[in-house]
Amino acid sequence: MSLLTYTVTLNETGESYRCAGSRSVLEGMEALGKKGIPVGCRNGGCGVCKVQVLEGQYVRRVMSREHVSEAEEAEGYVLSCRIKPTSDLRIAVLGNMKKSVCRTIEPANSSPLSST
Ligand code: FES
Repeated sequence: MSLLTYTVTLNETGESYRCAGSRSVLEGMEALGKKGIPVGCRNGGCGVCKVQVLEGQYVRRVMSREHVSEAEEAEGYVLSCRIKPTSDLRIAVLGNMKKSVCRTIEPANSSPLSST
């Protein structure tokens, strides 16, 4: 188990968080406290936590080929519940995760409740 922590940067928002090398990138992202981060099985089986690693190194555990093809894997697509950082990372969030990550940084005045 690694005691080191690394900085994970979200490409879409520029936000970053610290993630221990002993934790999955998904666990670290959950600790950001954002609403709507899609978390499913946490075990590489459901695919909701898929991201693309743009920069950095990580260790990965087994992932379902149903969710990450070999071609995707070669381009850095991974299930964030199945990777742990071994260096600082820059990741791109995808699908529902992108919606939740980007929604939470919209300016307060873009809320539908403040339509005046
Ligand atoms: S939470 Fe299900 S694959 Fe990551």
